[in-house]
Amino acid sequence: MQIFLLHCTFVDDDGLIREGARVSLELIDKIKHDFEQQLGSAKSYEEFVAIKNSFLAKKGIIAGLLEQMRALPAQERPEFGKAVNLLKDFCQQQIDQQENQLTIQFFTQKNRQERSLDITARPTSEKFAGNLHVSSKFLRRIEEIFISMGFRIFDGPEVETDFYNFGALNIPQDHPARDMYDTLWLDKPGHLLRTHTSTIQIRAIKEFGVPLAGIAPGRVFRHEATDATHEIVFSQCEGLLIDKNISLSHLIGVAKVFLAEFFATKNLDIRIRPGFFPFVEPGLEIDVRCVFCKHGCSICKQTTWIEVFPGGMVHPNVLKAAGVDASEYSGFAFGFGMDRLAMLMHAIDDVRLFRSGDVRFLKQF
Ligand code: FA5
Repeated sequence: MQIFLLHCTFVDDDGLIREGARVSLELIDKIKHDFEQQLGSAKSYEEFVAIKNSFLAKKGIIAGLLEQMRALPAQERPEFGKAVNLLKDFCQQQIDQQENQLTIQFFTQKNRQERSLDITARPTSEKFAGNLHVSSKFLRRIEEIFISMGFRIFDGPEVETDFYNFGALNIPQDHPARDMYDTLWLDKPGHLLRTHTSTIQIRAIKEFGVPLAGIAPGRVFRHEATDATHEIVFSQCEGLLIDKNISLSHLIGVAKVFLAEFFATKNLDIRIRPGFFPFVEPGLEIDVRCVFCKHGCSICKQTTWIEVFPGGMVHPNVLKAAGVDASEYSGFAFGFGMDRLAMLMHAIDDVRLFRSGDVRFLKQF
């Protein structure tokens, strides 16, 4: 590193104390004074660094003082050495105090200069602005629609217990319905990655009590072979409404309003058929007409219908598990796959694209 020796009245350019200048306590005072003066009038970061090096570097002025201490009579050396060390500490302290502040100023200024407009830069047709992930956009849209219908948003853990994922949902140990959910069990006994967002049903009732209305969008996990409509990690949106005198027609009404809003059409072609889920009774499935074909394709399994909205009336056993009086309250629940809805909306033919991280896919939305 280059060492700048700034103007100092007692020191030669090579850092040695000028010949004739007496190595004395008085000289130390004068050097201290000189240091303060120079530091006080430093106008740039470079000047500051030069002053620091000039006084404190290995071959700087203070090191020079110690070097030349040998010229003093032996009895004066201890007092002189002590004074030089005090000077050194003083200078170091002053430097440290200013260094932080100046470093920040220096880099802020440098940053500004580097970021300033480069008028020689050529225009480019490519724009790389960031973008919300298509799933995030759908999530917001879905939340907006349900909030406008008076639903709140629930949140729950992805690592769940057997109780919330199965037991409290009327799926006891050894119940065949457990086979519907290929579960990823964790090392901790009784713990799993939630296989559906229905886990939120008991949690929400316990936390907020009844009556209540809310949705719980989130990731779920299944140990499944993947294909165009099946992923291991996918998004579901659970819905739950509990109040007095709630019937299946309320569920169908909410589903119709939601689907019409979501697909921005009043003429959505849907059909309703019975469905089985142990935690609802009766249960149903709402299908929408396949958007990929007219006469059947591999996505709709040649049926021209795609199942989008499973739901039903909350089973009295579930209400009981959540501590709700099933003779007074009733309610409905649903749990649709958010990725599948997005697929229908944009005619996306493979659910695996959502989490592929493929920028060519993501850039389209
Ligand atoms: C359930 O998970 C129920 N919990 C839904 C429910 C909630 C019913 C409340 C009644 C009351 P199902 O396993 O069918 O149900 O999954 C619901 C939706 O998730 C499906 O309609 C589908 O859109 C989506 N889905 C299911 N498995 C996958 C998968 N492997 N990949 C992508 N989406 C999937």
